[in-house]
Amino acid sequence: METGYAVNRVGILTSGGDAPGMNAAIRGAVRTLQCLGIDCVGIRHGYAGLIRGDVIPLDERVVRGITGRGGTMLYTARSDEFRTEQGIARAADNCKYMGIDGLVVIGGDGTFQGALRLFKKSGVNVIGIPCTIDNDIACTAYTIGFDTACNTAVEAVDRLNDTMQSHERCSVVEVMGHKAGHLALNVGIATGATIIMVPEVSYDFDKDVIERIRAARIAGRTNFTIIVAEGAEKGQVVADKIQKSLGLETRFTALGHVQRGGSPLIRDRVTATYMGYSAVMLLAEGCGAKVMAVDGDKYIHYDIEEALNMKKPFDYDTYNSFSALTFLDRNFFKCIAK
Ligand code: F6P
Repeated sequence: METGYAVNRVGILTSGGDAPGMNAAIRGAVRTLQCLGIDCVGIRHGYAGLIRGDVIPLDERVVRGITGRGGTMLYTARSDEFRTEQGIARAADNCKYMGIDGLVVIGGDGTFQGALRLFKKSGVNVIGIPCTIDNDIACTAYTIGFDTACNTAVEAVDRLNDTMQSHERCSVVEVMGHKAGHLALNVGIATGATIIMVPEVSYDFDKDVIERIRAARIAGRTNFTIIVAEGAEKGQVVADKIQKSLGLETRFTALGHVQRGGSPLIRDRVTATYMGYSAVMLLAEGCGAKVMAVDGDKYIHYDIEEALNMKKPFDYDTYNSFSALTFLDRNFFKCIAK
């Protein structure tokens, strides 16, 4: 049925690692489509599901009450087949077969790379919604799920800090983040960590880890927290080296997938709902291959190709101020004064 908009049937999928807020984005998109009278189908298991034709009808009733639920009701996957020419061709054929002329894809960089290839192959308009706990998508200051994941990690590290303080131990905590240190930086600052190890900063282990723990001990501390981004170093290796070098009782914890679960916090619910709505409005207007983004307090969008070519800078200012505050580096403040 013709709707009078640029699209008549929109497919929604979630792809890559799940993140808290994916369900809210799905709901925002579905309800907007219903209001516009555009047909809506859910594609399960990401691009793998599009290749298999694994679709379900979506309407207001199906998405009722999911805003506060973690995970994704559409399931998610990382599809190797979709990276092949044959996989893309089958996905494009399925869009044609099912009359899908618009897609909302919710995920990270890998999801957007897939979206661009599909757009080029099939001509189906596609809008990306940035959703990953890593906050590593260059075109946007914020990715849905980041705040919730940081808070989950902070709660866990606060608990670890209680027991480390009681036993006067060192806690090495490995957090997710893929190849980026955004999550580690925020968690480390929020928990008063002794050291934060991120892939964007190189380390001399003796000088930057061992000597710093020693200096903190001399200054009166008896328990220590080291936050290690998974992309920087293996947390277990860091823990073993500290124990060996200092004879300090050290315990290692990998927070792992705990960080991906849980009910999304308000920022993620609101951002996701708005982006779900906006993505559909862009499709209705006839926009092609775009990705939604946050810029300060505004929502904007970029061409996917342009977005994928951008580089996300690491927040060195915040990182340097963390170090200065942790180690009372008065020279840092002298430099700033000049
Ligand atoms: O991209 C999200 C993320 O959780 C990364 O932080 C992590 O490196 C990766 O996914 C883990 O992937 P998987 O769920 O496949 O183990």
